[in-house]
Amino acid sequence: MRIGVSLPENLLNRFDEIILNRGYSSRSEGIRDAIRSYIVNYEWMSDVDGKRVGVITIVYDHSQRGLEDSLTHIQHEFGSIVQSSLHVHLDRDICLMVVVLNGDGQDVRKAAERMMTLKGVKHVKLTTTSLGNEL
Ligand code: NI
Repeated sequence: MRIGVSLPENLLNRFDEIILNRGYSSRSEGIRDAIRSYIVNYEWMSDVDGKRVGVITIVYDHSQRGLEDSLTHIQHEFGSIVQSSLHVHLDRDICLMVVVLNGDGQDVRKAAERMMTLKGVKHVKLTTTSLGNEL
């Protein structure tokens, strides 16, 4: 199937640089691969289960109206499992936030998913670990 997608120019330029460096034969092949990675990541996140320690790393544009309020609001909402957060001002506009959570894996995933869909968020990464008691 063929689809049409609108993208910011700088995002497409960066994507083209990467697929050129990686040796993809076409932009379409790179996009197919990117979509597969997105799906694999989604499936991995859906499997986050049981008691987990989660680390959410968020890179965002702090000038996006309402974004910092929303990020704070989500942390309050998941306040029973949020243990700590760290904020670093990376440059004039971009901030890095790291949130450490400890609780039910599905709640950890939900908190990460809520954050990744906010406008102005550039990147969200979730990593999880457990206490290792079950190993
Ligand atoms: Ni900042």
